[in-house]
This record gives sequence, structure tokens and C-alpha cells, in this order.
Amino acid sequence: MNVKKLVGEKAAEFVEDNMVVGLGTGSTAYYMVEAIGKRVQQGLNIIGVPTSKRTQLQAEKLGIPLKSVDEVAYIDITIDGADEISSTFQGIKGGGGALLFEKIVANYSKKIIWIVDESKMVEDLGAFPLPVEVIPYGSQQLMNLFKDKGYAPVLRENEEGKPYLTDMGNYIIDLHLKKIEDPHALANSLIQQTGVVEHGLFLDCVNTVLIGSEKGVNIRHVRK
Ligand code: A5P
Repeated sequence: MNVKKLVGEKAAEFVEDNMVVGLGTGSTAYYMVEAIGKRVQQGLNIIGVPTSKRTQLQAEKLGIPLKSVDEVAYIDITIDGADEISSTFQGIKGGGGALLFEKIVANYSKKIIWIVDESKMVEDLGAFPLPVEVIPYGSQQLMNLFKDKGYAPVLRENEEGKPYLTDMGNYIIDLHLKKIEDPHALANSLIQQTGVVEHGLFLDCVNTVLIGSEKGVNIRHVRK
């Protein structure tokens, strides 16, 4: 069974007529965008706000009307994937490299839904490397600094062995932290570091989590 497809299609059912919908990025979000596209072709009237060039291209092909985050007053609902979700529903995102746009879109969303398979549900965050988007200038200095702090940083590379570039032309440093004891303290210290644009800790923001497994989709309402 394709669990990502199952959960992505279930999430598309949360979209209602006349909504402004934040469209996430990643291999799970892909199926949600496909399912919303199908509904649009059947007459659903929405505006999508894509969180990456990749999602924008996919949505355009499906005929989903799109606007950028700056062209809408707010977003009714954002549906996105996640790399890890803790037992207190804090998340790591950005494995797919779109964390900056994803966080901006999330910040202006009334409701956030995360769609994952059950393997993403963990007790504590940190086994998944934490993505940190940094500007290229001074990035080696940031690598040194993170190394000194014991964060085991790795500069993300593309298939050609060159630094991976985000949609904004930034680099990503993945921090191999194993276990994040205090996500809020880490988030605060990372965002204060000059050169850091954003990090992949998404804290206190998700409203509903859809967890897919072979048994079906478990819907957890986390906060109003
Ligand atoms: C993209 O930057 C990410 O935040 C993804 O949403 C996240 O990595 C989950 O992706 P998958 O659904 O492909 O695992």
C-alpha cells in the first residue's frame, strides 16, 4: 500500500470551496497536491499558495490557480509533510529543502495540517538531521561554529557534489544532533546567529496531524 498517497489524498478532503490553501512540498505533499488538482478539475474553487518552485510547477500543470504569499491576506489551511514529529507534536521540516518558504506560509496560516507516515512519529526530535538554511557568505564560519558546539554539521550537497541551493539561492547545513533536549532553546539560539536565515524546527504550530499506516489514516487534532 502507498501510505504517502493514502494520507495525501485524505488531507485533500480538508480543503473546502473558496479557501486559500498553502501547498506543502515533499513526496507526501506531492499526493495531496495531485488530489487537490483533481478536485479543482472537477470544479473546486480555491487559490493555492505554493511553498516551493517544485510545488508551484506541479500545481500549475494541474491547473490550480496560484498566488504568492504576498498576494493573499491570509491562508485558510496549509497542508505539508514533516520529517519528524515528537510526542508533544513539535516538528522538524526541511528534509526536502523548502523550510524557509514552508515556514513563511505556515506563519500566515489559520490552520496547519501535517501529513506523515507513522515512521515519522518519534518520542524526541533529533534523529533526523535538523536543516538550517544559511546565506552562502560566511557559511564555512558557521560550519566551524556549529562543529565547536558539537552539532556535527554537514553542508548539504546536490548530485554533482556542489552545495545544494534553496529556492532563495541559500545553502543548507544539516545538524546531526541525535536528540534535541530543548527544541525552543535551540530554535532561539539558531535564529539569533548571523547568517542563519531559518531553521527546520516548527514549534507550537500544527493543528492537525494525519498519520498514515497500513491500517489507514489516524487523525490527531492537536490544537484549535
Ligand atoms: C520539505 O522541505 C520538507 O519540509 C518536507 O515537507 C518534509 O521533508 C517531508 O517530506 P517527505 O514527505 O518527502 O518525507
